[in-house]
This record gives sequence, structure tokens and C-alpha cells, in this order.
Amino acid sequence: MNNTITQLPIDLDSQRLPQHVALIMDGNGRWAKKRGLPRIAGHRQGVRMLKDILRCCKDWGIKALTVYAFSTENWGRPFEEVEFLMRLFERALKKELDAMHSEGVQIRFIGDLSALPQSLVQLIDLATEKTQHNQTLQFNIAVNYGGRDEIINACRQIGELVQTGKLDASDINEQLFSLKLYTTNSLEPDLLIRTSGEMRLSNFLLWQMAYTEMYFTDVLFPDFDRTAFHQALLSYQKRDRRFGTIKTSLSA
Ligand code: FPP
Repeated sequence: MNNTITQLPIDLDSQRLPQHVALIMDGNGRWAKKRGLPRIAGHRQGVRMLKDILRCCKDWGIKALTVYAFSTENWGRPFEEVEFLMRLFERALKKELDAMHSEGVQIRFIGDLSALPQSLVQLIDLATEKTQHNQTLQFNIAVNYGGRDEIINACRQIGELVQTGKLDASDINEQLFSLKLYTTNSLEPDLLIRTSGEMRLSNFLLWQMAYTEMYFTDVLFPDFDRTAFHQALLSYQKRDRRFGTIKTSLSA
């Protein structure tokens, strides 16, 4: 993690920052192609930008960041790229774990981790356990994650409880359902940022983003620096979040 502390820009109101930001880091491949580089160069640069966004979140008081690192659909990419990404996750995590831990970052992985390489799973277990009590910033990394897969998985767990008589079907409610998701009792995202001009959710946090504000930017993720992040937060601060009601909750 980059260790230069960053001040909250003066035009951002610390009382109106999103507590939880979700991020779809898109456009790595296009960034590399534009420069005549292999796609993996875009992913490498993406890691650098991610480190900087994490630094901003921590220094500016954002409590949680959830990033989409690898979807259930991403297995369809060329073998070499998938293999590179798995190694990149492992290398970056190994390199940054101690620094993140000492800065109070709690690392969590969401998704079906059973399909990942064994060495990565071991490192994930280590990072999760080591940082589990940290409270400054929760950093959730979605790997082999799919929103529909997560919902089906929750349904299966609940179905089993009902089948074995441990739960009455009439007791199923939103709170119970949320607890069975990979995100368990995390805060729901206040703001989703997707880079590279795409305006889709792509199966990311489908349940959790029912009331999330969306921000789409044409900036490709490897160019998504702190100035671009700052712009996203400014846009968020102008929103009037009503959660289906007519009272304003932010601009009161
Ligand atoms: C999407 O861009 C990006 C990914 C599938 C990978 C994102 C992963 C990282 C930035 C590394 C994160 C590292 C850790 C440790 C969490 P794309 O390749 O689909 O871009 P394109 O749409 O331009 O082809």
C-alpha cells in the first residue's frame, strides 16, 4: 500500500462521503491495447491504481471498498490471461499483506473460492485470518464472484435449514437472507463506480445494490487515479438519496 498520506480534498464533505464504495475495475485490456501492450500490462497498472484508491479510502475515512477482481464469467478468457490474473492476485496480496495489516485493513474475499488455485486459497485464508479484527477499512475482493451464484447459494443454505426443520419458511426475511450471502453482514454499497464507459452491473452485488448510487465514467481503470476518484465522490455528494421515500437523507 502506498504510504504517502493524502488529505481529504477541501470540496469533499467528510460527513457526506459514502461509507462503502463498490468498484468495477473495467478497461484494463483496452488501456493496454491503446498503447500497443499486452492485456496483462493493463491489469498490472490496474493493481497500482487500486493501491492508490485504497490509500484514499483509508485516509479519507471511507469504511469499506469492494472490488470486482474476477467474475464467474471471466473463466472464459484465454487460459494465459486467467493464469496471469491468478498469479497477479497472489503476488499483490503477498506483497501488500503486512502493510495493509499494519494500517488496519480488514481483507475479505467474496465468491466461490473453491475453484481457485490451492496456493491462492491458502494465502486468502491467511490474509483473512490475520486481518479479521482490523477495523479501519474493510477491503472486500470479489474473486470467482457472481451475484446470481451468490443468491442461489444463499437459497440452498436456507432451503437446507427449512428441510431439516431448523427454520420455518415464514421466518425467511431480508435480514436472514443477507446473512447467507457471501457478504454476510457487511454494509451495503452507497456508491458503485464502473470505469471504461460500460453501463452495466455485470452480475455484481445484485442483492446488495438495491439502493446504491451508480457512477459511470469513460476513464479506463488503469487511468482511474485519485483525481478521477475525487470526481466520483463529488458526484455522489450531489445526489439526493431517498431510498424510495420523499424525504432527503443527505441534504437535510
Ligand atoms: C477488467 O478489465 C478487469 C479485470 C477482469 C481484472 C481486474 C483486476 C485487477 C485490476 C487486479 C486486482 C488485484 C487485486 C489483488 C485485487 P478488462 O480486462 O475486461 O478490460 P477490457 O474490457 O478493456 O478488455
